[in-house]
Parts: sequence; C-alpha cells; structure tokens
Amino acid sequence: MAQYRIVSGSVAVISIQNPPVNALSAAVREGLLLSVRAAASDPLVRSVVISGHNGPFCGGADIKEFGNVSHLESGPHLVEIFESVEALAKPVVAAIEGFALGGGLELALACHYRFGHSEARVGLPEVSLGLLPGAGGSQRLPRLLGVRAALDMIVTGRHVAAGEALKLGLLDRLTDGNTVDAAVRFAQSAEGKPLDDRRLGNRPCPPLENIDAFFEEALIHARGRARGAAAPLACVQAVRGAATLPFLKGMELEKRLMETLMTSGQAQASRYCFFTERGAARWTTPTGARWDTCRARPISTAAVIGLGTMGRGITVALARAGLSVVAVETQEHQLDEAQRAVSRMLKGGGGVSYSADLQAAAGADLVVEAVFEDMAVKEEIFKQLSSVCKPGALLATNTSSLDIDRLASCTLRPEQVLGLHFFAPAHVMRLLEVVSGPRTSPQTVAAAMQLGRRMGKVSVAVGNCPGFVGNRMLKPYLEQAYFLLEEGASPELVDAALEEFGFPMGVFKMSDLSGLDIGWRVRKEEGLTGPGVTADQPMRTRRGRRYSPLGDLMCEEGRYGQKTGRGWYLYDRPGARVARSDPWLRSFLEEYRERHGLLARRIDQQEVLERCLYALINEGFRVLEDGVAASPQNIDAIYVFGYGWPKHRGGPMFYAAQVGLARVLEGLEKYHKAHPDSPHLQPCSLLRRLVASGSPPIHKWSEVVKGHRSQL
Ligand code: NAI
Repeated sequence: MAQYRIVSGSVAVISIQNPPVNALSAAVREGLLLSVRAAASDPLVRSVVISGHNGPFCGGADIKEFGNVSHLESGPHLVEIFESVEALAKPVVAAIEGFALGGGLELALACHYRFGHSEARVGLPEVSLGLLPGAGGSQRLPRLLGVRAALDMIVTGRHVAAGEALKLGLLDRLTDGNTVDAAVRFAQSAEGKPLDDRRLGNRPCPPLENIDAFFEEALIHARGRARGAAAPLACVQAVRGAATLPFLKGMELEKRLMETLMTSGQAQASRYCFFTERGAARWTTPTGARWDTCRARPISTAAVIGLGTMGRGITVALARAGLSVVAVETQEHQLDEAQRAVSRMLKGGGGVSYSADLQAAAGADLVVEAVFEDMAVKEEIFKQLSSVCKPGALLATNTSSLDIDRLASCTLRPEQVLGLHFFAPAHVMRLLEVVSGPRTSPQTVAAAMQLGRRMGKVSVAVGNCPGFVGNRMLKPYLEQAYFLLEEGASPELVDAALEEFGFPMGVFKMSDLSGLDIGWRVRKEEGLTGPGVTADQPMRTRRGRRYSPLGDLMCEEGRYGQKTGRGWYLYDRPGARVARSDPWLRSFLEEYRERHGLLARRIDQQEVLERCLYALINEGFRVLEDGVAASPQNIDAIYVFGYGWPKHRGGPMFYAAQVGLARVLEGLEKYHKAHPDSPHLQPCSLLRRLVASGSPPIHKWSEVVKGHRSQL
C-alpha cells in the first residue's frame, strides 16, 4: 500500500501503491504514516521522495469510502499524516507523474518541494463532489499561490497542466525524464538545508489589498455561478480563512465547513452523479447481453449524412475521437459552409472528407444520419444506405423522436440499425442516448457504447419509444409550464423558480434558445394544431386532454425565440442572447386568459417546481415501468449530462427519493385532483407500488420494477 525503500544511500522513497489511481484508502493512509515515521527515525535517511507506484502520483481520497463513515474513520486521518510529512526534519519532495488530484495534491502541498513531469496535471476537484479540499488544501494552496490563483483552482476544481502549475509556483521544477530519479537527485541536493520556509503551514498568505472587498465580490461571483450549490461558497469561506486566520485556526474552519458539506444532501447527490456516470457503461439488454460479455467490432471510419446544426457537431465529435469521417450533404451552399465550420472547430482538416453523394458512405463502418426530422426523408435515406453501405456497417439515426424500428424495416439489416441521439452542440454536450429498437443486436449496442466512450460521452443505452428517455420526460415538464402561464404565472416567474432550483436556464428561456418552431412542427405532424384541426374543436382540449395552444399562437405571430428576436422574451435583434421581459407578452397572456374565461391566480415558486418537476419525475417512473431505461441511475445520468439538471441535486429520480416518494405521490395526487384533465399528473403505478413497499432506497427500486416486461 506504501512501498518503502532507500536509494542512493540516504533517500527514502515512499511509493503509494493502490491501482488504478493510487487513491488514499485506509490501508494506504496507514502505510504512508508508518513510512513517514520510519524515514523520520532512520538516521541513515537524510531526505524523502514521495511518489505514486506505476504512473499516477495520487488521485485523492477513495471516493468509495465517502458514504461510509466507519471506513473513513478507520486508519489515520489525512490531516494528521500531512502534518507529520510537513513537520519532518528532512526535506520531502513530491515526485508527481500522471496526476495529483484532490487529496493527492494536498499531500504534495504538505511536502517541502514539488517535482512534476511535464505532462502531469494537478487540481483540487473536490468542489465537483459537493466538498472542499478538507485536508489542508484550502489553507496551504493560498499560502503558496496567493489568494487569487488558489481561489480560482479551488472554486472551479479545474485541472491545471504542469506548465501552468510551474508558472503559478505550484510546481518547483519540471522534468521530461524519470520524475522519481530527478526528485531523488534534487532531494539529495537539499539535504541539510533549512526547511522552515518550505513548510506552507508556517507561511502567511501573500498579502492582498482590499481583502474584504475582494472576498465580498468573490462570494457574489461564486453565488452567481453555483446555481444553489453550497460547496463553491464554502470554498470561498475557507480560502478567506487562509487569508485572514493563523494556520491552525484556518484548519479548524476548514474542518467545520467540511463537516457541514460532508453530511449535506448535496454532497451525497454529487457523489451519486459520479457513480451514475460510470454506471452507465455497464449496460444490459433483454436478450441477456451485457457490457462485459458482448464484444464489439471496432469502428474506425464513419459517414455523417446531413451537415446542418447537428451533423457538423457530430462530424467534429467523431473526428476528435480519431475516426476518419466522410461528411455528406446535398445542398451545395450547406456543404461549403459546413466544411468551413467543421475545419474551424477542428482547427484544420482533421481526417474529414466531404461529398455531395451518398455513395461516399460505401466504405464506412458506421453511418450517422442527421438530416431533417422528417420520416419520409429519413426512410428514403435508410433504403439507399442499406444497399450502398458495406455489409456489417452500422446505420444510425440522430432523430430526436422518430421510430427507430420503422427506419430499421427500410433496410435489409435491421439488427445493425440504431439511434444515436446527440445533444446540441454535439461536440460539446456530454450525453449520448444509444437507442436500440426491438431488433437491434447486442453487438450493435456494444459498438455504439464503445464509440461513445471514445468520444468522451456519457452514453446511456435506452429503448425505443417516442422521445426516448430525455425528451419523453421533458414533454410533461413543458406542458405544465404552459398550463401555469394559462393559470396566471409569467415566463419570468417560472424561469426564476427553475433557475433557483439549479437549472442553467428556465424552461421558457430554453425554449427560446432551441426555437419554438421545432415543437410546433411536431404538433402539426401529430395533428394537434394546423390545418387539420377544424374550427369547431375546442381550443384548449385535444383527444380528451387539456391542451395549451400558447406555443402555437406564439409561432403564428412569428415568435420563434432567439432566432427571430422575439419569443417568450424579447431580444435586441435576431440571434441575440440576452432575454428581456416583453410587455407585449404580458398583454397577450392577459387577453388570452380573458378570451378563455381563465382567472389569473397567484402562483408561487413551490407550485412551479412541484408541477413541473413532479410531472417530469412521474414520467420517469413510467419510463422505468416500461423498461425503456434500465435503471433510475441511467435516467439521472441523462438529465444531469444532457438537460442541465443540477449535479448537486443528483438527477430527477434521486431528487424524488431525497424529497421522499410519499411526498411526491401526495403532491401528484393533489395536483391531479385539481387538474383531472392533465393525465401527466396522474401518479404512475410504479410510484404507488414503491410507496406501498415502504419507499426503498433508489438502488433497490429495480426489485419493485421486476416482473414488468422490459425493453432493455
Ligand atoms: P438542420 O436542418 O440544421 O440540418 C439538416 C441538414 O440535412 C441540412 O443541411 C440539409 O440540407 C441536409 N439534408 C437533407 N436531406 C439530405 C439528404 N438526402 N442527404 C444529405 N443531406 C441532407 O437539422 P438539425 O437541427 O441538424 O437536425 C438534424 C437531425 O437531428 C433531426 O433529425 C433532428 O431531429 C435531430 N436532432 C436535432 C437536435 C437539435 O438540437 N437541433 C438535437 C438532437 C437531434
């Protein structure tokens, strides 16, 4: 767990050994402390080097131990170990290869010198787990770098490359060669030299003018970005402690703040997200295929059909993953424009070739179709692809809602057809829904999941149904938001409630950004609005259910959102992004309510959250019941990585568990009673069964789901 050896006669090399990331588990902590004591008491030892075994220096605390207090309590505490490292009367040099993250960097900060490999990375990412660097990192880093740079690293949790770390003064030296050998040579040269000034705990923070004003501003800034997360604010407070308190007092403050965060629901939620992201890679299918038993044929060449918004991003994502890509577009001006845009994004050619002819896809291992959302157009393309493409090639569609199975039946290889649902912008957004139809083969899913990983995506295997998982759950959420407008809310009120909850953007701002016309087109196709609807039909009812025509009316006014400069908000010009309240909309809503005899009532933020989020969660339970998602964790990964659900709230299903399933059920019952014509508010039977079986913890839900036919 911590190897100890003496080299060059006088240097004790302590090597942390806990693959794959050399995390600081209880056994490692024990070993580390024993080794430090051994080095201290051995008169032959005159200096010490601490390194990671086989590559990475140290990935930090063992996250598996976080939820388990008894585990954390066993073995010595990091604070205690780092204190004895810092106090050692012999120079201690950290030899950082690979990465030093979280507790790993805190260990390096307790050392007297830090040697780094030129390709190493360092960082304190605790904030992304709802925590702060709680083993002295929040106190030592500001003393080394100054408040500004330290605060930036701690509040953002970003990884810093070795070159920048050297400039910041975080690393003392870099080497391109063997880091441990270089560190050993350096340790020897430092033997016998005074260490007092090298101990960060002894140093004051470099002075900063207007310290109070600086931290006031830092707090406001952090609050603005935190979206309700507590950890970034606690980080600011801890760094302020470093700047204003003696070291030991600062350490006490750090400990208090850490204890508060550690026991909060937010840290629990963030940790849960960490595991849902990894858990998505362990997919299963109803045919019994699993991530670990199913071999995928590697994909090295791809074709993308249709180079609009999505096709361009998908091309970039595939090229960045190292595939050679042929990009196909029939409109000449689109092809030219796309070529320029893709080259810009890739900063050069990047293995992409262009063609106006579908034949160019003949040699590809995978084709991703991203043409207009029109079944007839897509069917025609799949028919052609079926004969053009080589046998074995996978045929994927990026449709956001159309039936994968229908597209599969246009081909002679339905088992090789699947959905790859990217999110805009496709080269940036982390989520990828891998949609399998009833005939998609396990090998096809496996190949797509493997490709998703290569692209750095969080890929989630889902079943085939309208809207798949993400968009299917979004529909009831949007619908409730429209209903709330009818009942007296304003877009500002609804958006403020959702943004305060933690979404980067409320539902109306989001709708302005993605364009109101998209939903309008879908509703017209579904026959909910447009020429097929006769004048004698009531405006606010469709197929026996409550319907809000507000979105349709907005589109009829030409208000498509940001692209037209007007939507639920007003923008300075088409394409502008800053949303301003629009007095026109206010009177439009007033007239609308009057016309339909609707009485505006006072709606509070709690109702907004409950109506919108509970409706979405309820659909999540239906998705589980139908077997379209394999687990609540998969649904949560989809929402956190594709829909801006705040990480510190875990995801919709985790949130439901945290609120209490009985309370969610009660809320839905109450709202459904008040709005019986809105079936999305009618509690799903799985939710009822879970509550009846005593609301088991989220990882046990699958036992209650069992017995239902699963698509996955
Ligand atoms: P878009 O309208 O920007 O681009 C479609 C492109 O396909 C156009 O450049 C068009 O000229 C080209 N095209 C049409 N027929 C073609 C053919 N036979 N051969 C080659 N190219 C052809 O559309 P967008 O927004 O990129 O969407 C594409 C698909 O992605 C749709 O199915 C959409 O539902 C889906 N999608 C869209 C998302 C979005 O946020 N825009 C998100 C996720 C999926």
